[in-house]
Amino acid sequence: MKQEFIKFGRRLRVGMVGGGFDSVIGETHRLAFQADGHWDLVAGAFSINPVVCEETAKGLFIADDRNYTDYREMALKEAARADGIDAVVIATPPGIHNAVAETFLDAGIHVICEKPLTRTVEEARQLEQAVARSGKIFVLTHCYSGFPMVRQARELVASGALGKIRLIDMEFAGGSPGVSEEPEDLSKRHWRFQPQNGKEMILGEVGSHAYHMVRYITGMTPTRLSAFMQTFVPRREVYDNAFLNFEFADGAAGRLWSSYVATGTQHGLGFRIYGDKAAIEWHEEDGEYLRFRPLREPETMLRAGQDGTSNFVGYSARFRPGHTEGYILAFANIYREAALAIIQAETGGDSTQYTSGLPSVSDGLAGVLMIDAAAASANAGGTWVDIG
Ligand SMILES: NC(=O)c1ccc[n+]([C@@H]2O[C@H](COP(=O)([O-])OP(=O)(O)OC[C@H]3O[C@@H](n4cnc5c(N)ncnc54)[C@H](O)[C@@H]3O)[C@@H](O)[C@H]2O)c1
Repeated sequence: MKQEFIKFGRRLRVGMVGGGFDSVIGETHRLAFQADGHWDLVAGAFSINPVVCEETAKGLFIADDRNYTDYREMALKEAARADGIDAVVIATPPGIHNAVAETFLDAGIHVICEKPLTRTVEEARQLEQAVARSGKIFVLTHCYSGFPMVRQARELVASGALGKIRLIDMEFAGGSPGVSEEPEDLSKRHWRFQPQNGKEMILGEVGSHAYHMVRYITGMTPTRLSAFMQTFVPRREVYDNAFLNFEFADGAAGRLWSSYVATGTQHGLGFRIYGDKAAIEWHEEDGEYLRFRPLREPETMLRAGQDGTSNFVGYSARFRPGHTEGYILAFANIYREAALAIIQAETGGDSTQYTSGLPSVSDGLAGVLMIDAAAASANAGGTWVDIG
């Protein structure tokens, strides 16, 4: 793999739309794409606020002529430069993901985009077509699929070690003060809690991660769901808790719990998957470990970095056993494979060897279809609704 980077002969050039110094996730992306030294950040339209745009570009030593205030201008100018960006990272709120992504895809630039893919199913389908039309690499940063032990879980399921999957229990249920309270002054609400952005936004913000992770591990997508969603926090106008039940085509059953009011839980992402031979369990707060419980044998604790894993799981763990890695290197795994996929695409190679392990535009569409069905189900009193 190092050979692929050496043969390509240079770092990939990347730009950012969103992710300004005022944002939640911008710095995480920068840390992740700098982890392996495969990317140079050379351009950006970092914020909707021109002052933040300027401060972010200055702080990151972006050349003045590549500090843009409009992403459309950025796409046009970068596409016209001999040393233009190879890829753009979209780290804006979801309402404009599709417009930004389509602009860069149409300009011939690869896209790495934050989740949820889009706000509506229509936008998601349109974006899926734009990706196909462009022939460019599109990676969705469902970053948790970069955890070595999540990848180990996927391999265990594929190996048949769990037998036939029966029950899938996924959750992303936190309750830190930042999400479990509304500000006194409602005009200070974060966009996540503004009703005009969708009453069911919780499913895009947190539920979509757990939903993608379980689809990634099991390869199974539910066919229908029933949603039971509530609003607990005073003055709040969007849902802050969601219980979804799922049916799968082969008879398996699942449930997804998303919450902002799981008081005292800081993050709360995890899964339990039960087959007829064994079960697995993982929680991000303890993300170096995957519990494996065979029916008639003692429980085993699998650990990131240990011997005996596949190459894919082994290379996803960057340190020797005993050192904690966590979130940032899981995110960096997504960026490393995105870089490799883009290099393959740019040199006429086979990018699918890398994209097959990465969250795609179709994964994004699957998430938006789930959210759409959940909203319809909740509005109809929790009735069963087909997904997509
Ligand atoms: N993968 C993860 O773990 C993770 C974690 C948090 C957020 N997210 C996702 O990341 C995205 C951003 O979330 P956030 O919490 O960082 O939001 P945020 O509101 O904190 O930051 C958004 C940034 O985008 C900028 N922006 C908005 N419109 C823009 C435009 N037209 N042009 C240029 N910049 C623009 C804002 O000025 C700001 O800098 C969302 O889709 C969210 O769901 C993902």
